[in-house]
Amino acid sequence: MHAHFATRVGAVYLFADRHRQSVIAMAQVRTVPQTDFQPHPLDPLTPEELGVAVEVIRREANLDERALFEQVRLNEPTKQVVRNFRPGDAIEREAFAVVLDRNAGKLFEARVSLDAASLKSWTHVPGVQACIMAEECEEMSKLVKQHPDFLEGLKRRGIESTEQVSVESFAMANFAAPEEQHMRLIRAHCFYVENPGDNAYVRPIEGLVPVVDLNAMKVLRIEDNGVVPMPPDRGDYQVERLKHVREPLAALEITQRDGPDFAVDGHAVTWQNWRFRVGFTPREGLVLHTMSFKDGEKDRPVVYRASLSELVVPYGDTAGDHFMNHSFDLGEGVFGAAVNSLKLGCDCVGEIYYFDVNMTDANGNVKYLPNAICMHEEDYGVLWKHTDAHTKRTEVRRSRRLVVSSFFTIGNYDYGIFWYLYLDGTIQFEAKLTGMLYTRAIVSGEETPYGALIAPNLNGMVHEHYFNIRLDMSVDGDENTVVEVEAERVPTGPLNPHGNAHRPKEAIVESENQSGRDIKPENGRFWKVINRSKKNKLGWHPGYKLVPGLNVKPMHQPGSPFMRRAGFVEHDLWVTAYDPDQLHAPGNYPNQNEYGPGIPEWVQANRPLVDTDIVLWHTIGVLHLPRPEDFPVMPVEYTGFMLKPLGFFERNPALDLAPPGCHN
Ligand code: CO
Repeated sequence: MHAHFATRVGAVYLFADRHRQSVIAMAQVRTVPQTDFQPHPLDPLTPEELGVAVEVIRREANLDERALFEQVRLNEPTKQVVRNFRPGDAIEREAFAVVLDRNAGKLFEARVSLDAASLKSWTHVPGVQACIMAEECEEMSKLVKQHPDFLEGLKRRGIESTEQVSVESFAMANFAAPEEQHMRLIRAHCFYVENPGDNAYVRPIEGLVPVVDLNAMKVLRIEDNGVVPMPPDRGDYQVERLKHVREPLAALEITQRDGPDFAVDGHAVTWQNWRFRVGFTPREGLVLHTMSFKDGEKDRPVVYRASLSELVVPYGDTAGDHFMNHSFDLGEGVFGAAVNSLKLGCDCVGEIYYFDVNMTDANGNVKYLPNAICMHEEDYGVLWKHTDAHTKRTEVRRSRRLVVSSFFTIGNYDYGIFWYLYLDGTIQFEAKLTGMLYTRAIVSGEETPYGALIAPNLNGMVHEHYFNIRLDMSVDGDENTVVEVEAERVPTGPLNPHGNAHRPKEAIVESENQSGRDIKPENGRFWKVINRSKKNKLGWHPGYKLVPGLNVKPMHQPGSPFMRRAGFVEHDLWVTAYDPDQLHAPGNYPNQNEYGPGIPEWVQANRPLVDTDIVLWHTIGVLHLPRPEDFPVMPVEYTGFMLKPLGFFERNPALDLAPPGCHN
């Protein structure tokens, strides 16, 4: 069945027999050297390339050791270059970097020619602040712990040792005092870690808020909003600290005797009819490129680029400084840089292929993260089935999906970003939300209308998670049009004499000023992306539909500080004309901004959207009303959406699947 793989040549990795690993054996992942590796224009930067980029920037821009590298990544070539590329072609490699000159307090965008090892451009971006970087938070924490006012604040709370304190950085949002707005600021929330290894998010040192000038690395002040007693529960979740642990579950082994069904060549993946490339950037994390589905002899493009564009988590509590909490995890943190190295048998089970990731840390050192992206197949139940009542014969085919995923730890929260490809042409995005709630200490009996008691003296504050996913579509090419579709009831009358009539209602999203669209579950609303330059035998323009899940609308008031910055959360779907520089829904640099540019501003251009290269931006809103079951660690909450073929094929594209072994 897998013999066809053996006939492949070149760098195609023959997975089947060489790379066997299983959960039972817990074998270490072996890396098969790819000696005849040829770079592709979309390959992420190699460690060597990252090193060259940093070195060139430091030298040509005369930067000193205090300069920080927010991100260094591939400067993606144009679609034309990517599409015209043939294996063996010479390619020009370029790096893009965002660099903070801390001494000057200036942010620069750099473009580096990696072939010439020279700076192609060095552009100051005025009026914006770089992301907050992990290395700065460590520096900040040390600094805060030496400040006399902080030590005083701890003493007022009966905490003697700074060893027992975790200082957690929190973005300032748009709440900087007028005289401090030019500074790059951070505030911190602190947590009590009574003994080493304690859960560092369940015992807030409430009210003690250091404010730090990050560029100068100087404590501006220690705010104290008043002492609140320490919540008593240590929130233990580590296995060795639990009083009772169930017997292990019966062994469930996932093995693929003949190896998995996918093939990997560098960053290119082939699985069944799917072809795509795996990418990664420091801000976005996992990126999928050039997804196409083989139909007959033809690879038909579906999505050119799929990525997370932003994740923002606004809170609904008014107490203390918690009204400020609304973190942009991509634009204020560096989401992708928080990627986990995954463990076989824990994060991923079965026949796993891992992609490693290289990036730079804030100081420009090249950082290697093994096993950052996990890929494997999962059985997914029945794909289609019918039993013929007359002949008693059953035809059944099993569904299987290819999973490409990563996990990211953003302080208290852990997010899984999962993409699934199915045999019938479906693409699914799923976010998994887990980790710790962000909490506030409360006095016994305190009324907390904007939160809930999740442990003694501990308030889980209400909040939402808004994901925005950017989908640069290319359904059978770039000439795409978005159509809103929903079921329409027909009034009883001559057209509907029996009261049963209903029909699809379609409306083209003509231009960007019509582009903010909303879900309407009661009418089954969805959006399809069609290519009107093509038509199949049945007269359908090939299309893919975006099927949304359940979203919540913004809970913050119009014009509120959060809504001024995150206007994109107002709608579930936006459509824009393709612009490679528009990658993030709230704009590239939301940190500390007062008003967000981003999508609501871009669509003011009112570019036409018909028969052209378009980008979908899907906002997913998850309402999180905390519950005791989220404590001390939250069982995974799921959210996401589907992209499904609609008139893309002329019949069930999974009709040709071979029957499973049970078939008779
Ligand atoms: Co939540």
